[in-house]
Amino acid sequence: MKTYLVTGAAGFIGSNYVKFLLREHEADRVVMLDLLTYAGNLGTLEGDIDGQRGIFIRGDIGDRELADRIFRDYAPDYVVNFAAESHVDRSIDNPQLFLATNILGTQNLLDAARRAWVTGTDASGYPTWRPGVRFHQVSTDEVYGALGDEGYFTETTPLAPHSPYSASKAGADLITLAYRDTYRMPVSITRCSNNYGPYHFPEKLIPLIIKNILEGRPLPVYGDGSNVRDWLYVEDHCRAIDLVVRKGRDGEVYNVGGHNERRNIDIVRTVIATIRRLMTEEPGLRSVLKRREPDGRGGISIDWMTDELITFVRDRLGHDRRYAIDPSKIHAELGWLPTTTFEDGIVRTIRWYLTHQDWVEQVASGDYQQYYERMYGGR
Ligand code: NAD
Ligand code: TYD
Repeated sequence: MKTYLVTGAAGFIGSNYVKFLLREHEADRVVMLDLLTYAGNLGTLEGDIDGQRGIFIRGDIGDRELADRIFRDYAPDYVVNFAAESHVDRSIDNPQLFLATNILGTQNLLDAARRAWVTGTDASGYPTWRPGVRFHQVSTDEVYGALGDEGYFTETTPLAPHSPYSASKAGADLITLAYRDTYRMPVSITRCSNNYGPYHFPEKLIPLIIKNILEGRPLPVYGDGSNVRDWLYVEDHCRAIDLVVRKGRDGEVYNVGGHNERRNIDIVRTVIATIRRLMTEEPGLRSVLKRREPDGRGGISIDWMTDELITFVRDRLGHDRRYAIDPSKIHAELGWLPTTTFEDGIVRTIRWYLTHQDWVEQVASGDYQQYYERMYGGR
């Protein structure tokens, strides 16, 4: 039996990863650590916590005593660190929180793992490590900065982050690699492109657009909508991380992406068209609409659901132009390839949101309304 310590387990990717582990590795145990900030929701882990294979602990990755206690009580073999402040726009508002959580929090976990996993010292003074352990840092392609119209990020692309968020993630990567080089700690890092799928907090582009469409609200697109992101279905990311944790080489960085570049404006148009199509084929789905206009035939109209909802708003400060990942290393070394096409993934995602409006309402009941007002000025 292996024990995973998954931090940030109540967030978007962390929760999908926990569900993946519990499904794929029946003999293994998952200890989940999450502070339950605005972005973390315990309801997301409903059915995953049983006190046996799935154990939940509420707390801060920056808490030294707690981290030591978790290593003492559960002796994890793997740490997979998802916990982070993750939203670029919020990092522009409050950079310091991002540095505290993403850099110092990661360093605190690295230290707790070091205290727990070191078994002695070799002849040169380097620590020796409990066999089979691994500290995995979940990172992002944003640490590489931005691309022009051509080219891809590889693992050797120099780090050149622009936003406080991506700078803090680059800091976390560098301290993780420093523990590799200084203490010969068994670490790995994955740098993934933009994820989408179930349990995505509705401050990020795709779930925010879905939420606004259902409410009949304007759809805010930054700048002219031509910025490009490389989208990956979250389960493909989870599978890539797990392959690296179990089979990746110690000390290596692996880029994860599915060659699925889209302009933001095209994403927004696709989401509108997909919801419209689903609600045309299955009129029963219209019951989740908050904008309720009669269609004159006893049903609910969706005539208003068009590209006219799109509103171009002031651009994000320092908005990175284009991200695109070259995933050839993880493919060549570990055989990983994404299995979900964007066409399938976006329909699955939208269907999930249409049938999980209770989840959306729950996560948007906290500071979400104030955040939205501050960010989009009531639009
Ligand atoms: P998220 O914001 O949905 O979840 C983050 C989770 O971390 C939340 O549950 C939150 O409560 C928890 N958390 C925050 N501060 C904490 C602390 N101090 N201690 C313990 N828990 C804390 O983020 P996400 O989109 O799931 O991203 C997860 C990780 O993946 C992040 O490290 C992010 O940088 C990285 N990543 C995200 C994407 C993406 O497209 N979303 C792409 C590549 C990499
Ligand atoms: P986001 O989901 O915040 O992810 P990231 O900034 O990490 O890539 O944004 C994805 C893209 O969508 C990014 O180019 C910014 C843009 N965007 C909008 O145009 N409107 C919005 O309301 C949001 C949240 C994002």
